Amino acid sequence: KGETLLRLCAADDVQEDLPLRVEVGDMSYAVFRLGDAFYVLADLCSHGPGYLSDGFVEGCEVECPFHQGRFDIRTGVATAAPCEHPVSAWAPVVIDGAIHIDPLNPV
Ligand code: FES
Repeated sequence: KGETLLRLCAADDVQEDLPLRVEVGDMSYAVFRLGDAFYVLADLCSHGPGYLSDGFVEGCEVECPFHQGRFDIRTGVATAAPCEHPVSAWAPVVIDGAIHIDPLNPV
């Protein structure tokens, strides 16, 4: 079905509580690990200039370092003000130990 997978990083490079920024072209992704599961969000906060890869992970949420808004890491849905709009989220697949997304098909 025409998927074009993009390799972001090695799964081993992503630590829990420490999101990883991956820049590809002019796009920046934030890669998260929650337990054994991986999640990918658009790195740029939907509220302003904060980068979620610089944020703080609390449970299943990431807090933007800029104004302390929050998003659900699993869905990109905004969960705390001042954030209202979601950020794009991708369901990554791990292939040969590397995290991939289909950039054109966010969840
Ligand atoms: Fe992220 Fe304002 S820039 S909460």
